[in-house]
Amino acid sequence: MELMQAILTRRSVRKYQEKPVEREKIESCLEAARLAPSACNSQPWEFIVLDDPHTKESFCREVFGAVYAISKWASAAPVIIAAVSDKGNFVSRMGNFIRRTEFYLVDHGIACEHLILRAWDQGLGSCWIGWFNADKAARFFNLPANKKVEHLLALGYPAETPNARPRKKAEEMVHYNQYK
Ligand SMILES: Cc1cc2nc3c(=O)[nH]c(=O)nc-3n(C[C@H](O)[C@H](O)[C@H](O)COP(=O)(O)O)c2cc1C
Repeated sequence: MELMQAILTRRSVRKYQEKPVEREKIESCLEAARLAPSACNSQPWEFIVLDDPHTKESFCREVFGAVYAISKWASAAPVIIAAVSDKGNFVSRMGNFIRRTEFYLVDHGIACEHLILRAWDQGLGSCWIGWFNADKAARFFNLPANKKVEHLLALGYPAETPNARPRKKAEEMVHYNQYK
């Protein structure tokens, strides 16, 4: 699929076919993420793929409880990918401090966008999930203290074709030569 076509047609998909996702397709998505740019090339990401139904079910039971129950729809996705962050390397962390920004989160966003665009390119739907219990997710995977599950990505063959969500008009977000 041509890049702009993928960008134009991609949607967040929240209903999936039961059909399992081939490991090769998952690996290709992860390869797209691996090649993403990052501040100081620090690559502050790791991905944990949940495609075993029992493990995925136990995980979802943990992380989509209580106030996070609105995200329970994701339990039915054939694959959940947990995107794990660390705070980047020393130079990148110095950059965070001086610039007062969190470059590792920017990096994460880019890698995950690579992943979901490659998913779409292969006929797979996906949805970012920011609303889940990250502490319970870290405990589930026994993550060390410097690592965090930043967000989850649901993945699978789509069982719905969502309409495009509204976007700002170009005039509302683009400025040439001055801010007004
Ligand atoms: C960082 C991030 C977190 C998100 N978290 C959730 C979420 O917790 N639950 C959900 O249903 N959708 C979530 N979304 C999906 C957005 O709702 C969706 O991208 C937005 O409404 C635009 O729709 P589209 O992706 O179909 O273009 C998230 C998206 C991003 C980028």
